[in-house]
Amino acid sequence: MLELLRSRYPAVLALLAQLLAVLVIALLLFASVRLAGWRPTLWQAALAQGVLAAGLGRWLGLRSWWLALNLAFVPGLLALQSRQWPAWWFFAAFLLLLLINWNSFRERVPLYLSGARTRQRLSERLAGLSADFRFVDLGCGLGGTLVQLARDYPQARLSGVETAPLVFLLAWLRCLPYSNCRVRYRSLWAEPLGDYDVVYCFLSPAPMAELWVKARREMRPGALLVSNSFEIPDVPAGEIIELNDWRDSRLLFWQL
Ligand SMILES: C[S@@+](CC[C@H](N)C(=O)[O-])C[C@H]1O[C@@H](n2cnc3c(N)ncnc32)[C@H](O)[C@@H]1O
Repeated sequence: MLELLRSRYPAVLALLAQLLAVLVIALLLFASVRLAGWRPTLWQAALAQGVLAAGLGRWLGLRSWWLALNLAFVPGLLALQSRQWPAWWFFAAFLLLLLINWNSFRERVPLYLSGARTRQRLSERLAGLSADFRFVDLGCGLGGTLVQLARDYPQARLSGVETAPLVFLLAWLRCLPYSNCRVRYRSLWAEPLGDYDVVYCFLSPAPMAELWVKARREMRPGALLVSNSFEIPDVPAGEIIELNDWRDSRLLFWQL
């Protein structure tokens, strides 16, 4: 059960850590007022709750980036509330985050972007292909990889699919000036892969096993599957380019 939550619904575990931390801190507050006559400030309580929630999250096996979220959640709420923001502001901020991080909860793939060095090395690696190669970025984010390749390879045919509404819109606008590049509002799971010479993705560990099944079913022999940093479980990459950047990015290649 814990393993299932950890791998498929980490947000539920994070919520559990938050609630447990609130409960423990409330009990400690009660005890300190009753037994020692000491009443901590709201900020002290919120910070203690954050530290405890982060620790509990770690203990429950959440990945390290949840640590910061768990740590900052309640202190962040307190900071926002103490500044008397109008109610619509919260709704607008929520809506903005939702439109950007549409795929975080269901697909467990948030938005982060391939770095400039990664895009450059990918582009160099594709130099040996025929000039009109077909390329797709599954979950193309803001379209940075597509734009770089559209400039470097004017004859290549480049596609991107994206389902986070605001992210899609920005990528679509960004690719408009390039006649060899198009972005569609479509789930990566609905994109047929049979026509592409290169399929690129930068997703998360969560969908990689399923993506491999799809790639093997649909991609044609000789085509390249490229993953930025995330491995396919039990399928070693045929080629790896180390990017030596701050997040230890790697480009992993599998030839079908
Ligand atoms: C980590 S970002 C990578 C963005 C871009 N490929 C890059 O390398 O800069 C992953 C993107 O995949 C999108 N995504 C996640 N699941 C998706 C799905 N099922 N269909 C289409 N896009 C998806 C997310 O919205 C996000 O923009």
